[in-house]
Amino acid sequence: MLPQEIIRKKRNKEQLSAEEISFFIKEMTSGRLADIQAASFTMAVFFNGMSKEEMLALTLAMRDSGEKLTWEGISDGPIVDKHSTGGVGDKVSLMLAPMLAACGAYVPMIAGRGLGHTGGTLDKLDSLSGYQTNVDIDVFKKTVKQAGCAIIGQTADLAPADRKLYAIRDVCATVESIPLITASILSKKLSAGLQYLVMDIKCGNGAFMENINRASELAHAIANTANGAGTKTTALLTDMDSILGTTVGNALELQEALSYLKGEKADSRLDEVTMALCAELLLNSGLAQTTAEAEQKLRHTISSGLAYEHFVKMATSLGADSKILENFATHGLKAPYVEPIYPTTSGYVAAIDTRQVGLGVIMLGGGRTHPEQKINYTTGFTSFCQIGDKVDTKTPLCYIHAEDKDKIKEVAESVRQAITIADTKPALSPVILRKIA
Ligand code: URA
Repeated sequence: MLPQEIIRKKRNKEQLSAEEISFFIKEMTSGRLADIQAASFTMAVFFNGMSKEEMLALTLAMRDSGEKLTWEGISDGPIVDKHSTGGVGDKVSLMLAPMLAACGAYVPMIAGRGLGHTGGTLDKLDSLSGYQTNVDIDVFKKTVKQAGCAIIGQTADLAPADRKLYAIRDVCATVESIPLITASILSKKLSAGLQYLVMDIKCGNGAFMENINRASELAHAIANTANGAGTKTTALLTDMDSILGTTVGNALELQEALSYLKGEKADSRLDEVTMALCAELLLNSGLAQTTAEAEQKLRHTISSGLAYEHFVKMATSLGADSKILENFATHGLKAPYVEPIYPTTSGYVAAIDTRQVGLGVIMLGGGRTHPEQKINYTTGFTSFCQIGDKVDTKTPLCYIHAEDKDKIKEVAESVRQAITIADTKPALSPVILRKIA
């Protein structure tokens, strides 16, 4: 087989065989392919798409490019995970993993860093002193066995083909391709040896998929491919036209997640998304027979303190300082400047440019402007308003947390501009938009 013939076939809109795709990915991973050939391949896929069979073959070839985890020692619970396509204020993974562990599941979660305007689970965990997101597979496996869950970053051994192809797509304008996104996400997830997966496909102005048709197309592609690869998968389309929860920013979001796990306070939309994604996995894996039973089990993990205990076990097993964790609200990282942002008029919050709010965190140093940048974990927003809230010139839209006093004015203005205030209360849209099985 010749790589250029494979590229040519895709360029001419012909169907590739599983053997051709596997050959191409093996050649690329082993360094025998020029980057321009890999780039040309992604551009041909970007324009001409892939059939279901091709998408499955690409996902399996990329999954098989590195190590595949197995879970021999675990027989008393299903191996499950969730993946989100990325949003603003999305801290669901931090709660979902220990809640499912407290229900008897095992959650080996390979998470990512912030991408574009969206936050990343790893950056949130890095705000916890001592927590190691960069551990080897043995430590990862040991933590999953002991704590029921572990959230770490991608290791060099898992799906190396994705690492290579993603870097090429990033600089060749071929990221936004449904077959390539599907294979990229699933090759990493499936290499963790999952039995059940739920996808949270974010949809709205703070998501990569802004409209529901594209989001549905991606959800179908991922569910079909993952099910074809033997991992039972369902997807929920969830709203990202406003921030999820009341905080945005790394340490601030971790604090909100810890409060949720301790049963202290829960934003209703954040609670609905977290419960729905957890319930999907409990139902699909047989840990609950009905939605009501799933909900009752999940609520019990919070009221009994079990979910919080699993989080502490996971975090301390991965090196977190238990004293800081126990008193994160007072002993965790804190920004020196915290100020309210007031609107200039009174009325109801009618719309939020959620992407703009995510960019505000980057402007405050809480996200990256270049890949190697050290970020500032303390910055962001708290008590963020929701659509439908009544605000006036004495009721803040949110509080800004900043390390640098000079940044406050500019970011506050950008947040004010991101929020539309109207005279009448807007109709509220649901947070769970659609389920795709
Ligand atoms: N996240 C991934 O892991 N891969 C993509 O292609 C897009 C989002």
